[in-house]
Amino acid sequence: MSKLYINGGKRLFGELTVHGAKNSVLPILAATILCGDECVIHNCPYLSDVDSSIKILEHLGCRCHREGHTLIVDTSNITRCDIPDELMQEMRSSIVWLGAIAGRLGKARLSSPGGCELGPRPIDIHLAALRELGLRIDEDHGYIDCRVIKRLRGNSLHLTFPSVGATENIMLAAVFAQGKTVIHNAAKEPEIIDLQNFLNRAGARVSGAGSDTVVIEGVASLHGAEHSVISDRIVTATYMAAAAVTGGEVVLKKTVPGHLLSVISVFREMGCMVETSGNDIKLISPSELCRFINVQTLVYPGFPTDAGPLVVAAASVANGTSMFVENIFESRYKYIGELRRLGAKIKTANRVAVIDGVSELSGAKVKSTDLRGGAALVIAGLAANGRTEIDRVSHIDRGYEDIEENLRCLGADIKRK
Ligand code: UD1
Repeated sequence: MSKLYINGGKRLFGELTVHGAKNSVLPILAATILCGDECVIHNCPYLSDVDSSIKILEHLGCRCHREGHTLIVDTSNITRCDIPDELMQEMRSSIVWLGAIAGRLGKARLSSPGGCELGPRPIDIHLAALRELGLRIDEDHGYIDCRVIKRLRGNSLHLTFPSVGATENIMLAAVFAQGKTVIHNAAKEPEIIDLQNFLNRAGARVSGAGSDTVVIEGVASLHGAEHSVISDRIVTATYMAAAAVTGGEVVLKKTVPGHLLSVISVFREMGCMVETSGNDIKLISPSELCRFINVQTLVYPGFPTDAGPLVVAAASVANGTSMFVENIFESRYKYIGELRRLGAKIKTANRVAVIDGVSELSGAKVKSTDLRGGAALVIAGLAANGRTEIDRVSHIDRGYEDIEENLRCLGADIKRK
């Protein structure tokens, strides 16, 4: 298995185009099966999670082929309604296929996603809502078996938490339901808007995405659609953090600055100059980063949980003590043990991390514990003196296309072996 090797201390400088959003493309690929036709997805990143989604589509009987960053999916022929265990385990977010498969075929069989690196990942909100649409769901020996008895019926649903995955799952299941489905307390993330836009291009009638009420008017069928995936806001935040810790200056292109307001404000608090112009974000870091006082993760438009590890890594080389609170996932601090190996001074208690900035990190051998935790190690490795060796890079490859090549273009000394 390959590792990343970083010789830290190099200032990052230059321009980079940010790739398409993992969290948009995954539900959109699930949505293609509702179309029963050819769909053309542009700005589709090369990520191992996308490869897993392609394997799911092919397992179901669909045909996929790539032309660079365009993925063409033909879902006219579907022969199966299950997802094998290995694929469910590879990508915990695959629960979003439940609504799509049941919506298209009237039945679905998936293994339960269980726990993941971020702690238990319950699906109670998904299942309760899908049941309210009339889906009969039996959970048995680690499997979820679903059947639509007649046709799914639109309903007024209230989510107990604005779960991103549950909002998407309901949108997918409700596309062919009879009548109107209203999701109250829906997630408001930009990826929900992207899914709505894709579905509407395919002939669905969805409105309200981006607000806390999403309305889906059931239709009888969808058709093929062409869509370009939005840019990945967490990848943008990652390269901002990488520039910030190396005293660098980068311009990130093809981004949506409006999706990153909470992240930009944290980098500004840390003393970075951040300018936005159209789809570009320019970050110029100060000679020394300042601490942030208190960053708390929240649902969108609050500070994203996925950007937490990135700013914790940056705060570990800032001047002063920063406080970070993770409110979305229970167990997201595994990577902090690895940051400590590089010399970071971070204490955690439950959901709180207190980061005492140090003047210097030093290279060490570390392991990625999860996707964004792995990215945090890359950021810390770029800031550290000497050589950092990062194992379990497969976590990072789930969400970053060519991370080492992109960082090398900006002047980092990083390679994969
Ligand atoms: C999505 C993102 C992930 C991001 C997260 C929060 C994808 C593929 N993944 O994950 O990168 O970190 O949103 O922005 O888009 N919960 C329940 N019951 C449920 C569902 C969720 O208790 O049925 C809880 C979760 O345990 C977690 C919180 O709700 O504590 C947020 O989860 P959710 O918004 O569902 O995240 P995901 O869709 O899994």
